[in-house]
Amino acid sequence: MADSNNKPVSHSRTTITELMLPTHPNIDNKIIGEVLLALMSKAAFACATRHTSNFCVIVSIDDIEFVQPIEVGEIVNSKASVNYVGNTSIVIGVRVESENLKSGLVKHTGSGYFTMVAKNEEGRPTSAPGLVLENEDDIRRFLAAMARKEVKLLGKVQFTEKIKKINVFEDIKKLKKERCEIGFEW
Ligand SMILES: CC(C)(COP(=O)(O)OP(=O)(O)OC[C@H]1O[C@@H](n2cnc3c(N)ncnc32)[C@H](O)[C@@H]1OP(=O)(O)O)[C@@H](O)C(=O)NCCC(=O)NCCS
Repeated sequence: MADSNNKPVSHSRTTITELMLPTHPNIDNKIIGEVLLALMSKAAFACATRHTSNFCVIVSIDDIEFVQPIEVGEIVNSKASVNYVGNTSIVIGVRVESENLKSGLVKHTGSGYFTMVAKNEEGRPTSAPGLVLENEDDIRRFLAAMARKEVKLLGKVQFTEKIKKINVFEDIKKLKKERCEIGFEW
């Protein structure tokens, strides 16, 4: 629905760039996930705050994937854009790419979806501006975020039902084929 308060995706698109130094926590010359998560959440925070003009907090993170390792000495770009707007919540998609400065090779190293809530001066959730979708990718991402939300809600309900039905005495037999053993007297 057209609204003069709506903001285009491009208004808040954010990239945070950082050189991965040996001082960054790393194992075997590879950067550990914690550093990437911090970079991703910084980009999500900046993007969400640009869109809403309010400080935003993370309420949940979905589908985080680290697909390739990042080496010390590479540049990391954490790219964030608004994918979806609810009422007070907005979903920021973050894509991480690393660049080898010598070879110029760019790798997709990770991605994830941050649901952020805009807070007002009193610290209460406040309405976020709607989104102006500027191209086919923006439409696809908005629709994908709607689908992810729906599937997550459905999954939550199904999971709650499943765990309510767990009967340790009955279900212990399911562990027979699993890679675990009972390490105490049962
Ligand atoms: C985020 C927070 C303000 C939500 O407060 P609340 O009283 O639960 O508010 P509401 O129930 O009205 O939910 C607000 C929005 O968040 C969404 N939301 C709540 N829990 C959610 C979850 N687990 N996943 C996705 N969205 C969620 C709601 O659907 C609602 O969206 P909408 O307004 O677009 O419809 C509150 O939980 C909070 O402050 N959490 C701590 C955040 C934080 O410290 N993060 C880490 C540091 S950034």
